[in-house]
Amino acid sequence: MEKNNNNLVNESMENLFHTKFYIRKSMDYQKLLPLFKDAGLEVELDDPNPKGLLTCFEVVDKKTDEIIGASSIINNNGIYQVKTLAVTKEYQGRGIGRYLMDEMVHELRKLGAKKVILNAKEPGFYKRVGFIESPMDTNDIEYDCGDCEHFNRYCFPKIMEREI
Ligand SMILES: CC(C)(COP(=O)(O)OP(=O)(O)OC[C@H]1O[C@@H](n2cnc3c(N)ncnc32)[C@H](O)[C@@H]1OP(=O)(O)O)[C@@H](O)C(=O)NCCC(=O)NCCS
Repeated sequence: MEKNNNNLVNESMENLFHTKFYIRKSMDYQKLLPLFKDAGLEVELDDPNPKGLLTCFEVVDKKTDEIIGASSIINNNGIYQVKTLAVTKEYQGRGIGRYLMDEMVHELRKLGAKKVILNAKEPGFYKRVGFIESPMDTNDIEYDCGDCEHFNRYCFPKIMEREI
């Protein structure tokens, strides 16, 4: 009974989402750098495409055509990783991060991935969307925190993983 109710809630949220927004794929990582940077990710506006880029996802507001959330996935040495994920401040807390994650998992499943890993700046969010702390090491993944002045002062990222 509870499961059915939850399914109904999820379905109506999904319908609501699709009346307002849509998700598209692109390889234009550089176009998304201002959005990632504004959301506080450790990127620079002239960063090159990340090594092993598979695809980016863009959430577009149908009313304004504005990209209001985005993410990217990479594969290096057979390890699938969420490289970036951000939602613009005004749109946070409306389920857009979760939709982006669902879309990435769907794509990774199609690619045959069994597991995805990431460096979580917001571990609480990733826990809500099915990730657990990973035994993997910073050397195992593409890792950008090393030189960041916030690292382990104001920002306490965790390496996390999720079965696909
Ligand atoms: C983290 C981020 C992507 C979440 O996106 P969002 O659209 O605001 O999240 P959603 O609305 O989809 O939230 C999904 C769930 O996670 C929870 N959640 C969201 N942010 C959270 C956080 N910082 N800590 C704990 N839980 C969080 C929500 O309450 C919601 O829970 P529920 O479904 O059980 O009600 C977004 O806040 C963001 O872009 N932050 C700045 C950039 C960033 O830190 N990105 C992550 C880099 S590793």
